[in-house]
Amino acid sequence: MSKPESTLIRGISELVTNAGDPPGRFAALTDAALVIADGRVAWTGPAARAPATDVVVDAGGRAVLPGFADSHAHLVFAGERSAEFAARMAGRPYRAGGILVTVEATRAAPDGALRANLRRLAAEMLRQGTTTFECKSGYGLTVPDEARGLALAAEVTSEVTYLGAHVVPPEFAADPDGYVDLVCGPMLDACAPSARWVDVFCEDGAFGADEAAAVLAAGRAAGLGARVHANQLGPGPGVRVAAEAGAASADHCTFLTDADVDALTSTPVVATLLPGAEFGTRQSFPDARRLLDAGATVALATDCNPGSSFTSSVPFCIALAVREMRMTTEEAVWAATAGGARALRRTDIGHLGVGARADLILLDAPSHAYLAYRPGVPQIAAVWQAGRLVAGSAP
Ligand code: NIG
Ligand code: FE
Repeated sequence: MSKPESTLIRGISELVTNAGDPPGRFAALTDAALVIADGRVAWTGPAARAPATDVVVDAGGRAVLPGFADSHAHLVFAGERSAEFAARMAGRPYRAGGILVTVEATRAAPDGALRANLRRLAAEMLRQGTTTFECKSGYGLTVPDEARGLALAAEVTSEVTYLGAHVVPPEFAADPDGYVDLVCGPMLDACAPSARWVDVFCEDGAFGADEAAAVLAAGRAAGLGARVHANQLGPGPGVRVAAEAGAASADHCTFLTDADVDALTSTPVVATLLPGAEFGTRQSFPDARRLLDAGATVALATDCNPGSSFTSSVPFCIALAVREMRMTTEEAVWAATAGGARALRRTDIGHLGVGARADLILLDAPSHAYLAYRPGVPQIAAVWQAGRLVAGSAP
């Protein structure tokens, strides 16, 4: 058997490793090199000390970063809601109700149409540097529609989330408790085999604290880890419910009390901020500084969905986080890489320490700061996933 090929990437002006000391912080090397072997990072260090390899790639004085870990996306859907977006921009408020427009379109769509849309969005993400993404159901809301959504999601990612508790569908409007029973019973049975996570939209107009806790407990009993849509549209019990359920992540965190911030700093729950949603709904952005200064672990993700946040671009979210949420460029890049990995409870991604999966981005710029410094400019020159070039071109 021939020995697998090793690749040296040299000429890296800035190599963001997130593998510093203490661990779990932003870390970067300058004038660096990196070796990939067997789909993993085999060596990082000063370019002058790089070992010999089979293949050599010259980054030409550009930056290399870990691939983005987008820990919150809703990609299984049909239709679009640009008119709703335009109306919001003209002053109409965002409410959870628009979700049902997408539910109707999704239920009516054949598998092939859902699969094609999902794959198009997944490819779009990869081109923009996202090497791991989470994908939720939540626009089916019947047993067969949720089950097929998750089966489709499982074709493109291992981070699959059951979101039967997105909103109460119209046929259960008079019996919301009956819908929660369905979500915790037959729907969960049909969905759990395709999923790793269970999520619930805990919000006025969606599900209350007791219902959310019941959904998470049922999911946990079926072997699923918990995540929560929490405190997006107003103050509420979502973060508390997430902390009590031992959730991996509380997502949105836009309206937080001091007790919520305490819950996020005193438990391992990651605060996942989704600035694309505030952009798309014209809400105020979450107070990232308050969370970071209190010591919370913060992730950044796109929330890509056809209603509140129809962007698949992590670079766009990084730019928003830096400009609008007073995150430093280092904090924002960490949150979109290592933070996303934490929110997915993954240790093999989000950093470029030795042994990490070789998921990396070659930026068409000399430093990570350019992601916010040049907003809206395509700067992802090449993307490797598990050591394989999957987007762009190597120099
Ligand atoms: O994360 N908050 C609930 N779910 C999505 C919105 C989905 C939609 O508007 O279709 C969100 O913002
Ligand atoms: Fe969401």
